[in-house]
Amino acid sequence: MAHLFNRNVLLGVSGGIAAYKSAELVRQLLEQGATVRVIMTRGAQEFITPLTLQALSGNPVHTELLDAEAELGMSHIELARWADLLLIAPATADLLARLAGGRADDLLTTVALATAAPLLLAPAMNQQMWRDKATAANVATLRARGCALVGPASGEQACGDIGPGRMEEPAVIAATAASLFETGLLAGKRVVITAGPTREALDPVRFISNHSSGKMGYALARAAADAGARTTLVSGPVTLPAPDHVRVLQVESASQMLEQSLQLLPECDIFIGCAAVADYRPAAVAVQKIKKGPEEISLQLVRNPDIVAAVAASENRPFTVGFAAETQDLLAHARDKMARKGLDMIVANDVSDRSIGFNSDDNAATVLWADGEQVLALAGKAALARQIIELIAGRLVTADKCN
Ligand code: CTP
Repeated sequence: MAHLFNRNVLLGVSGGIAAYKSAELVRQLLEQGATVRVIMTRGAQEFITPLTLQALSGNPVHTELLDAEAELGMSHIELARWADLLLIAPATADLLARLAGGRADDLLTTVALATAAPLLLAPAMNQQMWRDKATAANVATLRARGCALVGPASGEQACGDIGPGRMEEPAVIAATAASLFETGLLAGKRVVITAGPTREALDPVRFISNHSSGKMGYALARAAADAGARTTLVSGPVTLPAPDHVRVLQVESASQMLEQSLQLLPECDIFIGCAAVADYRPAAVAVQKIKKGPEEISLQLVRNPDIVAAVAASENRPFTVGFAAETQDLLAHARDKMARKGLDMIVANDVSDRSIGFNSDDNAATVLWADGEQVLALAGKAALARQIIELIAGRLVTADKCN
């Protein structure tokens, strides 16, 4: 099914009677998973109030081009960049003419010029205006520039005429908007990924941790979001920026990572354990900073819970993927780890090779599952992440067919 998960839809509303249907259109777009912001022309505000569309979209409605305060919030250029799609519904005859003429005489037409996002138009006007040669020429110009049109539908019009010119139904417009985006391999799936190191506190100022950069987990999150999945990262402390369209939940210790991961399970179809979880934590955390004392001290450590194994053992478990960092007998140890932890798939890394893994930008891996395996040659972590996501999607299709 087409969807708008992770998509920013900028809805332009121009001044026609069909503007009242924009309220329902916002609802339909949200239902498809889009984030919606609305621009209204002056005319549109005669038919429906900005407040209505603000309340429905959950975002302030943009109306003015030369409003210093509004520009401070989100400038017209930022709006143009923000949009993954500019959808104008209703698009009146006047608006089509202004777009065809390349005018920039209000916020909506200016953003239409300034955006690189695709433009989808839902025309709405009197049937005679739609049939007029001037409108037909404008539509032809816009189509030739790559704009997509949905509708108009035919039927009885608000003015009493019968013919083509009615704005298409909101559900049809939303579905057309969704169909403009390539259906991602993980369309509609919910993915949770653990990433980065964990920190196990010794006292208020010290901890045990490791050198994991989180790069592989973050690359996987980006690849999952790009594939259309609603993606959440449960991240240990790293210095990476949050990838676009990915929710990032910060944690510190293995226990916190476990708790957060388990909480997310009811809304998780695919779980990828990519974090370098500390296997042990100090048996006790000192309340005060530990003072220097004797020449030698020893530290008592206790085992941390295994997060990916706990997920794999849960009721209604998601498709569960783990990583195996090994220095010898890579495939045998990885297969054993997959079985021990009850995983559906494991990504095996040879960490004896210093050119890949932990802090590097590159990685190579062998991906194993119950009845198959695939070698992924050395590549950037982003490229490798995309291949891993493709393999996961492939296994899901196979599993669906078997069920
Ligand atoms: N993992 C986890 N929780 C832990 C330890 C590991 O979820 N407490 C996950 C990692 O995210 C990874 C996989 O388990 O997906 C394998 O981690 P690895 O360190 O290779 O394996 P270990 O279980 O620690 O086994 P060993 O140290 O014996 O190799």
